[in-house]
Amino acid sequence: VVGPDVSVIARGGIMDARGIAAAQILGASGVSLGTRSLVATKSGIPACYREQLARCPANWTVVSDAVTGRPARFIRNRFVQSLIDADVGTLGWGAQSAMIADLRRATAAHQRVDILPMLAGQGAGLAGRPMPAGKIVERLAAETRRARA
Ligand SMILES: Cc1cc2nc3c(=O)[nH]c(=O)nc-3n(C[C@H](O)[C@H](O)[C@H](O)COP(=O)(O)O)c2cc1C
Repeated sequence: VVGPDVSVIARGGIMDARGIAAAQILGASGVSLGTRSLVATKSGIPACYREQLARCPANWTVVSDAVTGRPARFIRNRFVQSLIDADVGTLGWGAQSAMIADLRRATAAHQRVDILPMLAGQGAGLAGRPMPAGKIVERLAAETRRARA
């Protein structure tokens, strides 16, 4: 039960003003945008990851704990698929993440998007062009106000 003292933050697949307006109409007090924020210019992801997000349809992604030891949604590339197919379990979150840290750095440096583990929500392809995070928030707020006017 959600009472008057509980704030509901909607998250998951919200990429644009339509998504924010829909969440507000359904009663959310706020929204949390994960994948949309990933394409912000200072998010720190490598350029090749950014390009993959831009062309990523929802069915390119898969939820698995095989990569970091904790369930998360990734672009389904060769590395992610191999870990899923191997089905050998994980070392647990901390150890498994540490194990792939060097691989992550090396594959990013060599732009090997077939191996680089890339977190991505199902709405990744709708993320739009990169801009500073402040600009993304400003634009989304203005567009949401217009959508709801
Ligand atoms: C870079 C990145 C890191 C994330 N880290 C976590 C995390 O540590 N814990 C968690 O529960 N979800 C994590 N998530 C998943 C977000 O909770 C998820 O993206 C959120 O539901 C928002 O959905 P969206 O990405 O479709 O906007 C992460 C997502 C991204 C893109």
